[in-house]
Parts: sequence; C-alpha cells; structure tokens
Amino acid sequence: MTEDRKKLYPESKVELTPFVARHYDRLLNLISLGFYGRFIARAIEELSLAAGDSILDLGCGTGRNASLMLEKLGPAGKIKGLDLLPEMQEQFEKRFEKEPRVTFRRQRIDVAFDLGEKFDLVFISFVLHGFPPAVREIILDNAVRHLKPGGRLAILDYAEFNLEDKGFLFRWVFNKFECTYARDFIQYDWKKILGECGFRVEGEEYYFRNIIRLLRARLKGD
Ligand SMILES: C[S@@+](CC[C@H](N)C(=O)[O-])C[C@H]1O[C@@H](n2cnc3c(N)ncnc32)[C@H](O)[C@@H]1O
Repeated sequence: MTEDRKKLYPESKVELTPFVARHYDRLLNLISLGFYGRFIARAIEELSLAAGDSILDLGCGTGRNASLMLEKLGPAGKIKGLDLLPEMQEQFEKRFEKEPRVTFRRQRIDVAFDLGEKFDLVFISFVLHGFPPAVREIILDNAVRHLKPGGRLAILDYAEFNLEDKGFLFRWVFNKFECTYARDFIQYDWKKILGECGFRVEGEEYYFRNIIRLLRARLKGD
C-alpha cells in the first residue's frame, strides 16, 4: 500500500505523507534528539504574547505550537489553526476538544482566502520555505489580509545562509532531506521582503547555530 498522495507541489517537503503527518511530533523529537520541545518553547516565549491576543497559525500542524501559545493567553485570547491535511485536523481537534478558545479550519494557505476576521498575530512556523517563490507571496498576502492595523507577523523558519559555507554533513543532510524550494528560500533577504510587504521588522532570534530564525515584524503605519 502506498503512503503517498497527490501533492499540490510535487517538490515540496511540507506537504507531508500520511505517515509523517500522523507521527509528526514524535518524529521531530526523535530527529532533534529531544531538543525540539525546549527550542519551540523558547521561540514561543519570544513572541511576548498578551493575554487577549488573537492568533492565526498558518499551517498549524498538530497544534503543538498552539498549545504552547495558549498557555500565554487569558480567557479573551484565541487561536485559529489552518492546515491542509486531515491527519493534522484530527490531531489538532483532539488536542483542543475541550478548549473553545482554539479552533481549526481545513484551509489551503497557498491560495488567496478571507476568513472575514482579523488577528493580532499571524504565526507561520516551518511552512514558508516549502513553497515556490510566487506562492510565498500569496501566503504573505493572506497574512497581511488577516492582520489588524499594527498587527504582528512571526515567521519561524530557516534563516538566510550560504549552504556552501556549511560543513559536509550539514550540506548532505540539507540536500538529501530538503526540497529545491528550501534551497531557494535560504538565499532571500526576508527582512527586505517583509519591508516591501508593509512590515517593520521588530526583532529576530536565532537557534541551532543560526540555521533557524524567528523573525518578528509589525504592519507599518499604525
Ligand atoms: C513542516 S509542517 C509544520 C507544522 C507546524 N507549523 C509546526 O511548526 O509544527 C508543515 C505544515 O504545513 C501544512 N501544509 C502544507 N501545505 C499546506 C497548504 N498548501 N495549506 C495549508 N497547510 C499546508 C502541512 O500539513 C503541515 O502541517
């Protein structure tokens, strides 16, 4: 029996197979030798969430990040997670079945959509690198469309780096397990791109020897 399903972008590695989607959190713990939990908790801490924040999580996965964000929110806070895959929907909804502040919607984020509501923060974690450049623009437009005036965007993903500067083992792993879109993603000046999309970059934090970065930005003009 094949585990593959038809991909929207055959090259992409963020469109997970059913097996990887079902075991996503466990696999991340395993691959990171148990460091992932501490890393993601630190990154969420850096978001400096306010109790009443409303958060849109694009490509939310299993809800692991949402559960860490929820710890920072009060009764008025809320999180909406969007994801493409049924395996993620199942895990996300099970995790938050007794939590009315967190909702899920099965939604492609690579096409223009309008949820009819605006949020204080759009969070997108380990998703953007997995799409062709033109599609990343659509995703960023979706983020802008769903932010309140002065709203914030947080992108947790690969930092900019030159693959050729890295050691042989890292280059081998990156080339073996990442797609051509990711190799393209690391070459862009994302702070400049966010500036062109109407954001002011407010901060950046680096992890795992500067391979991963949390980029925090705010919509300008307010
Ligand atoms: C690498 S995982 C990251 C999950 C989560 N953001 C995290 O940090 O744990 C990528 C996620 O993007 C979702 N995804 C991929 N393509 C998508 C699309 N076109 N629309 C919505 N979600 C998508 C996948 O289902 C998966 O949950």
